[in-house]
Amino acid sequence: MEKKTYYITTPIYYPSGNMTVGHTYTTVAADTMARFKKMQGYDTYFLTGTDEHGQKIEKKAAEAGVTPIEYVDKIVAATKDLWKLMDIQYDDFIRTTEERHMKIVQKIFRQFYEQGDIYKASYEGMYCTPCESFWTPTQLVEKDGVKVCPDCGRPCQPMQEESYFFKMSKYQDWLIDYIETHPDFIQPPKRANEMLTNFLRPGLQDLCVSRTSVKWGVPVDFDDKHTVYVWIDALSNYITALGYGTDHDELYQKYWPADVHLVGKEIIRFHTIYWPIMLHALGLPLPKQVFGHGWLLFGADRMSKSKGNVVYPEPIVARYGVDPLRYYLMREMPFGSDGNYTNESFLTRMNADLANDLGNLVSRTVAMIEKYFDGLIPAWTDAVDEAADTPLQEHCKALPVLVSEQMDKLQFSQALAEIWKVIGECNKYIDLTQPWVLGKDPEKKDRLANVMATLAECVRFVAVLIGPVMPYTPERIFAQLGIEDPALKSWDSLEKYGAIPAGTKVHKGEALFPRIDVTKELEALAGGKEAAKEEKKAAKAEQKQEKKAEKKHEEPEYPAEIAIDDFFKCKIQVARVKACEKVEKSSKLLKFTLSLGKDGERTVVSGIQKWYEPEALVGRQVAVITNLKTAKLAGIESQGMILSAMDESGNLRLMSVEEGVEDGAIIG
Ligand code: MSP
Repeated sequence: MEKKTYYITTPIYYPSGNMTVGHTYTTVAADTMARFKKMQGYDTYFLTGTDEHGQKIEKKAAEAGVTPIEYVDKIVAATKDLWKLMDIQYDDFIRTTEERHMKIVQKIFRQFYEQGDIYKASYEGMYCTPCESFWTPTQLVEKDGVKVCPDCGRPCQPMQEESYFFKMSKYQDWLIDYIETHPDFIQPPKRANEMLTNFLRPGLQDLCVSRTSVKWGVPVDFDDKHTVYVWIDALSNYITALGYGTDHDELYQKYWPADVHLVGKEIIRFHTIYWPIMLHALGLPLPKQVFGHGWLLFGADRMSKSKGNVVYPEPIVARYGVDPLRYYLMREMPFGSDGNYTNESFLTRMNADLANDLGNLVSRTVAMIEKYFDGLIPAWTDAVDEAADTPLQEHCKALPVLVSEQMDKLQFSQALAEIWKVIGECNKYIDLTQPWVLGKDPEKKDRLANVMATLAECVRFVAVLIGPVMPYTPERIFAQLGIEDPALKSWDSLEKYGAIPAGTKVHKGEALFPRIDVTKELEALAGGKEAAKEEKKAAKAEQKQEKKAEKKHEEPEYPAEIAIDDFFKCKIQVARVKACEKVEKSSKLLKFTLSLGKDGERTVVSGIQKWYEPEALVGRQVAVITNLKTAKLAGIESQGMILSAMDESGNLRLMSVEEGVEDGAIIG
């Protein structure tokens, strides 16, 4: 029978600078999933790569005094080195500057044009060069009297350009129907709702798909003034890498449609709107799933090169090894949610989960087998204590299914949590069965044998199952257990509980993960004592700010009665969200730019980050108290208070009015 296939991809990253822990996050997730599926017997294909065209790269290269290709070559080499360091086992690395890619992009573009999906028109707007984005006047944000880009806050220039446009609107109804009838297509499901509510149902704009001002890109082969603009170029990588459109499209035939595209949530729109429409226009099937994962935040901000708050993986790996970092990335936050990267949480997890829970279990098990059975894993005996043995053994037998259920949902953190439950249970089992007491009584030797065999087998299960996340650790555990036979290290071997042959010789080795001194390591990672103190201080200050913001939601004591005049002291107005972003260094606050129509604009800071994605709020009308004394939150002057409701379970929703009143209208 032919093996089932599994095709997984990461976004292709911009090689504008070296890859960060953020890029590593997605890549490790894809690698983990590919390894897991491979272990289960799937014929897997894992693609990653780099998105090398566009104005930003052109500019960076010019600044560095080299040609664009020289510039990206260097970063691509460093990227490949990093993936090797992280033990990323991709099957292919596609670069958008490769001929195999560019030729097919030209072919795709031409097909769109010939079948009438693409037309030529003139485009006018304010342009942000660093972000390569056009903005309409209402999208721009005012900063110190200058209209700036809502994404990066830098000034925009007026620009007019002749461009090709893709008629996205033509496919809108089809896509709405597709998303509604394929609930698994966009994951997590709340992202599907965002796409439908914010983009598809209000109506799709046609997409600008070429540039005359950018030369560093794929030339439009029937109109050489034009260069294919980034998204058609970038998204096509998922099929050009498979040889789509060539005479050698065996990989395409075998692996397309992809099982899952992993992407950060900021690019889910491109992958669930433009990409499906492109594929549909080409008459091709859609990927089975697009999973939009959350951001790894540093402080309260997305780690990004342009914000300069970047953590690179290399120094962490050099100090602690690959597996702890991979483990931390997959364990720390649920896939789909945001989470904070801090050195402290990384080091704490290393001690708690790796040194204490896993490391201790392995070293105690091996040490006891050495002590009580001369290092030979004993055979199972009749001396069963059902109350102690059965629950653990049954739990361990069920573990592969429990892990697999979570992995199939890309819930890496949950899958690891399942494994760690068994590890925790094993450690409790040692306390419960007290081998050191059994060891003193020669008559209890049979009982002790079962305890040791149970522990050794549980450790084997754990070693197999952590492999996709931690590629180096299983072999170190197998070496200590004395397991050499590859058949005992496989997924299939987990069908049988009790597979280790009696008499297998264990070898006590080094501690898998030595305990570390967190304070000392924090200093080392921060680059000295002072810097570590500063980091702590900043974290404390953030907590304080957040508490302040939370206060708003605490229920005040209401007087039994108020006069109507008291109510009318509050000026509550309808305001439209023009821009909204996370406040730097806060995981609670959002900064809003609100339009009150003829009453002008306001900046308001609100502690509702936990409930809303900033992008999802732009364009919405909200209710604001506009005559409240201003307050400084996180150093930003907040000129009002946005009204919301919170129930007892902690659900919060913004207050809004039905569409149809002008911005600035009085509520009362
Ligand atoms: N080139 C586009 C993608 C084109 S795909 C057809 C791009 N590149 S990027 O270099 O900006 O990479 C963005 C991706 O890197 C995110 O979608 C995410 O997968 C990953 N991440 C980069 N920083 C990250 C965090 N701080 N946290 C989580 N993911 C991060 O967008």
